[in-house]
Amino acid sequence: MSHSERAWETPAVDTATLTRYYRWHARLYDATRWSFLFGRIALIRAIAAGPRPRRILEIGCGTGSNLLRLHRYFPDTAITGLDLSADMLLQARRKLAAHPARIKLVQWRYDQPLNRKPTFDLIVFSYCLSMINPGWEQALESALSDLQPGGRLAVVDFHDTGFAGFRRWMSINHVRMDGQLLPRLTALCPPVTQTLHNAYGSGWRYFRFIGQKPGG
Ligand SMILES: C[S@@+](CC[C@H](N)C(=O)[O-])C[C@H]1O[C@@H](n2cnc3c(N)ncnc32)[C@H](O)[C@@H]1O
Repeated sequence: MSHSERAWETPAVDTATLTRYYRWHARLYDATRWSFLFGRIALIRAIAAGPRPRRILEIGCGTGSNLLRLHRYFPDTAITGLDLSADMLLQARRKLAAHPARIKLVQWRYDQPLNRKPTFDLIVFSYCLSMINPGWEQALESALSDLQPGGRLAVVDFHDTGFAGFRRWMSINHVRMDGQLLPRLTALCPPVTQTLHNAYGSGWRYFRFIGQKPGG
């Protein structure tokens, strides 16, 4: 079955629905997500092994764990975390309270570029793109506009699952797992690294991707 044939099964999610969802999940987020949002620490390590960025944007930064890790690797880099959920940003603000000078938080639904000109040399999506339904293609195009030529796009996210029941459960939780992201990413942004991983045996697959925008 092709990606587009399966797309109807994942219901469209509007801002109000996601805001409500994270109102309840924000407080439990850090205590629970370590057990299934795999690959986030490895992605930040892979980023840290590459060139030092001057301006970083994380889209869908949630409670700010990636922002804090990035700040530890790049203490002099200006970091922006953007999220549509005020409740997730509240948790992030608490976590990052000690670093207000270098880390800025913005509440915004990312469906167009943040700035008129490409500003960032590293943009991160960590388990966010699979939740932007519809609109993940638009979010990716926007990220490419916000990214400077030669800048890097780093993504970790769900890829797919062979279990229809799990796929349905994830779609109830606003996540689409149709393997739709990786082909589009590699087409838009030549990969520097991309890896696919199994989670819980063959429960599902997730991927890590770092690509570089042409030019620069
Ligand atoms: C699964 S959480 C991931 C949080 C964090 N990146 C991490 O790795 O722990 C997804 C986050 O993306 C945010 N989000 C989803 N769609 C968004 C959009 N269109 N614009 C901004 N944030 C969005 C949600 O509010 C949520 O905080």
